[in-house]
Amino acid sequence: MSLPNQKPELEGTDIQRRAAREAAACGREKPIAKPGSAPISVWVLAACGLAAVSAGAILGGAGKGFDYNKIFRDGYVRTPPPGGSDEGPPPKAAMDAYMARGKKVWSSKCITCHQADGKGQGDNFPSLVGSAWALGETERFSMIVLNGLHGPMSTGKIYSGASGMPSQNATNDLKPEDLAGVMTYVRNNFGNTKGDVVTVDMAKAAFSISAKRTKTGQTTVEELTAEHVKDLPGKPLDPKAMVNPLTLMPVFAKTAPDAAAAKKDKTPEAPAPAAGTTAPK
Ligand code: HEC
Repeated sequence: MSLPNQKPELEGTDIQRRAAREAAACGREKPIAKPGSAPISVWVLAACGLAAVSAGAILGGAGKGFDYNKIFRDGYVRTPPPGGSDEGPPPKAAMDAYMARGKKVWSSKCITCHQADGKGQGDNFPSLVGSAWALGETERFSMIVLNGLHGPMSTGKIYSGASGMPSQNATNDLKPEDLAGVMTYVRNNFGNTKGDVVTVDMAKAAFSISAKRTKTGQTTVEELTAEHVKDLPGKPLDPKAMVNPLTLMPVFAKTAPDAAAAKKDKTPEAPAPAAGTTAPK
């Protein structure tokens, strides 16, 4: 059947259908992207992802990729800046650093009973000014702080009646640095002038001695006299030696012996310098 206004050669519905199909195909065709608005290639995305992950790994490693000991030759020691080491806060004389730490511990732990002037309070708390046990053997003093004291104190008098002095480490919150600091503080404050430093090493020894006690609870004069009239083991520390005020450790003790040891067990790589010249440092 043909429409009256159509030419006979166009009559075939094939042509019309083809035109309709092509028009529909053109409609479905994606528009040609304008330059600059093409979507990012999946490879670029993958490369960015990889870069981000490896950057994260490097940051997470916090500089471990830079291993000083691998990069510099054996036995090489950095010269510390004048008057200090290159790690930690500026060093302080041992006595000052231990006293500062001790003052903090005293103010948080001991002050309520023994008072700010160390003179104690009436029949409740004894004075530590001139106390034979605070100024005497360090092991006995440390056992009193770590475990408390019940019954007569050094003068034979009994304070705080039935309760005595409680352990000052009952909640395990005392660190060796705290014990060393507070013992040094008591021995060199309130008019006490013992002049020595109770070191962190000595305090560590005190903790292990205390852990091995056969008695439990507060110490008594019997236990102290029978077992603890001793000084704590450990090398004395010159009160003027420079220490890290946080760790209370001598500042150069770490690098120097390590370097010396490293030098000793390495065969020298460079030939011995000719007589009259000095080896490069
Ligand atoms: C809750 C109160 C209390 C606190 C806190 C306390 N003490 Fe005591 N301390 C006492 C009492 C009480 C005695 C005496 C105990 C007795 O007579 O049995 C004593 C005795 C001592 C003695 C023995 C003195 C001597 O000459 O016999 C020393 C040393 C001592 N205290 C140090 C300290 C230190 C250091 C701290 C802080 C780390 C501390 N005490 C915290 C109550 C306390």
